[in-house]
Amino acid sequence: MNLTIVGTGYVGLVTGVCFAEFGYSVKCIDKDSKRLEKLKSGKCPFYEPGMDELLDKHINKTKLISFDYTLQNNLNNSDIVFITVGTPTRRLEDEADLSFVWQVAEEIAENINKYCLVVTKSTVPVGTTREVKKIISNKVDEKLFDVVSNPEFLREGSAIDDFIRPDRVVIGTENKKSETIMKNLYRPLFLKETPIVSTSIETSEIIKYASNSFLATKIAFINEVADLCEVVGADVQQVAHAMGIDKRIGSKFLNAGPGFGGSCFPKDVKAFSSTAKKKNVELLIINAVNKSNQERIKKISDKIISNIKKNSTICFLGLSFKPNTDDVRDSTSIKIASKLFEKGYKLQCYDPEAMKNAKNENSNLFFFSSAYEACEGASAIIIGTEWNEFRALNFNKISKILKEKIIFDLRNIYIPEDLKKLGFEYYGTGK
Ligand SMILES: NC(=O)c1ccc[n+]([C@@H]2O[C@H](COP(=O)([O-])OP(=O)(O)OC[C@H]3O[C@@H](n4cnc5c(N)ncnc54)[C@H](O)[C@@H]3O)[C@@H](O)[C@H]2O)c1
Repeated sequence: MNLTIVGTGYVGLVTGVCFAEFGYSVKCIDKDSKRLEKLKSGKCPFYEPGMDELLDKHINKTKLISFDYTLQNNLNNSDIVFITVGTPTRRLEDEADLSFVWQVAEEIAENINKYCLVVTKSTVPVGTTREVKKIISNKVDEKLFDVVSNPEFLREGSAIDDFIRPDRVVIGTENKKSETIMKNLYRPLFLKETPIVSTSIETSEIIKYASNSFLATKIAFINEVADLCEVVGADVQQVAHAMGIDKRIGSKFLNAGPGFGGSCFPKDVKAFSSTAKKKNVELLIINAVNKSNQERIKKISDKIISNIKKNSTICFLGLSFKPNTDDVRDSTSIKIASKLFEKGYKLQCYDPEAMKNAKNENSNLFFFSSAYEACEGASAIIIGTEWNEFRALNFNKISKILKEKIIFDLRNIYIPEDLKKLGFEYYGTGK
């Protein structure tokens, strides 16, 4: 099978290399020429474990993957074209900005000349895939293409494994022909007994937003429970543990912390609610989740500010929105660090992979090449992202280089008593 993938971000590139792993021939398209040059030389433009090896294998050995900056001449041979471009939040609004998707739909329309499936893999509001169909059918005979919704559920940091061993594959189609082609595409996974949910286009689009919004709801919920725990002297980790043992609840996404961030949850929660509003449906729970998460940054920053002397130096560890990625889009760490900077603190930051992206987000922060260097002379440490290398820091060594021994363990990765024994003033989340 020959596949074309438009957009070589986290989703497009992972989709590309993983389909190459299945043995398909893949052409990846991106209009960002710098990114493309990097990719052509076998370098991944972002940090994702396992990506460099698979890129090298499929560019240089199997030669199943190649790159181009335009769709022109790249659909002649293609059975399926995937749209994997970004769908960020529109500036000053909560809606998804679909301009990249419309652009790609126009380009597809210009270049289709034989039957091809057009698949939206980007996260798009319900109705988008039908709109893509309208755009293409303005220029192309409807017999030459079908549209499909096939949302992606991978997580950055474990994206390759998630793609190759997903919990489920969702396929939204409007006829048997496209359903059969998609099932054939995912046959290697089906043979491994991956559940394939075959449904309508609208249902498929909503499954993605409902899933992300539900996970975001769990996080916002436990964060509010954490606030109450702090006031009454309870321990949110024990609460979450006991809740999670109940199979109806489940333990995942019940870790209290500084709020959800990243390139998906914040924007998807907003877009889900705004799509519903346009259809005169009020998603009250989702609206509350969004509000609760937005207020969290101020809450956490205020807690830090009220416990650290004005104008002092703070060591901030972990800048990516979660471990094992260099993605800082909507990172709570960057938001909190920036708020503290605005209040006059000096921020000494370190992250194992995300420093370059963090510098682009806020060049006022100071960056160091190790956690220990970032601790030098600081009056407090904040752990913003739970990278493994922060889980067993040498606090005897750190004690000697800190000015004051205060720690904000926003991700609850330490046992408070252990640090208190070493003379630290310890602040966790919800305990
Ligand atoms: N990142 C994730 O973890 C994740 C997981 C599941 C779903 N999604 C969804 O997948 C979509 C893509 O997310 P991402 O994080 O991979 O995005 P990204 O921003 O990392 O990458 C998008 C890429 O598309 C390219 N692009 C934009 N317009 C183009 C055009 N007209 N032609 C060619 N290339 C173009 C950009 O240059 C960029 O390289 C989004 O809708 C997102 O919500 C993301």
